Amino acid sequence: MYEICPETPADEPEVEGLYDLCFAPGRTALSSYRLRDGVPRVADLCLLLRDAGGTLMAAIRFWPVRVDDRPVLLLGPIAVHPTAQGEGLGGLLMRDSLTRARRMGFDRVLLVGDAPYYSRFGFTRLDDVVMPPPTNPDRVLGLELRPDAWVGVAGPVLRETRPPADPPAPDSTACTQVAPPKRPVDDRTETPRSAPHH
Ligand SMILES: CC(C)(COP(=O)(O)OP(=O)(O)OC[C@H]1O[C@@H](n2cnc3c(N)ncnc32)[C@H](O)[C@@H]1OP(=O)(O)O)[C@@H](O)C(=O)NCCC(=O)NCCS
Repeated sequence: MYEICPETPADEPEVEGLYDLCFAPGRTALSSYRLRDGVPRVADLCLLLRDAGGTLMAAIRFWPVRVDDRPVLLLGPIAVHPTAQGEGLGGLLMRDSLTRARRMGFDRVLLVGDAPYYSRFGFTRLDDVVMPPPTNPDRVLGLELRPDAWVGVAGPVLRETRPPADPPAPDSTACTQVAPPKRPVDDRTETPRSAPHH
């Protein structure tokens, strides 16, 4: 079994280590990080997936941003340990976090990534939403958690400047037990997959 739990402050060095392992050096120089600098994460949606032995296998984080003065969730980074990529763990974290986001009342999600991967979760290109340059517009993708939540929402993506109404402490008891994704062993790749970069 795997366990998906909200990230706590004590987990931070381990999570940063996983991101450093999975992304090219200089990842925090990407333009999307300027939207995150100094802005508290959405704590309840920053999730870690650990195996039965407690080893960190995957992590996902979310930040609040604004488009057209509407609140938007910025998804990412998401990373799966290179030894376990392609086994469905990324999909588990994506689905679990998006279900939690919907339950928490968020309306819309934005990310910068490869459409061929993220389309399986319902993400489509956002033609009228502009990430800080340099960002390939084909990689700016959105998902509606409520019907039509992206309709008429257009313009630049801006940092969230309002303080969270009630900054929640991550609730480490809000964990989900998940069974390993069903995937035949010989369907696995031998090498880590090339992956989308934020
Ligand atoms: C991208 C990532 C999160 C996906 O998680 P994962 O657990 O490896 O992926 P899953 O097992 O859930 O899904 C595997 C499927 O995704 C596809 N896939 C993986 N990366 C892909 C990409 N960049 N583009 C298109 N498809 C991709 C695989 O081909 C596979 O397809 P299949 O189901 O048809 O066989 C993971 O590979 C990773 O951490 N990569 C390095 C870091 C990164 O690039 N993160 C994303 C940007 S923030």
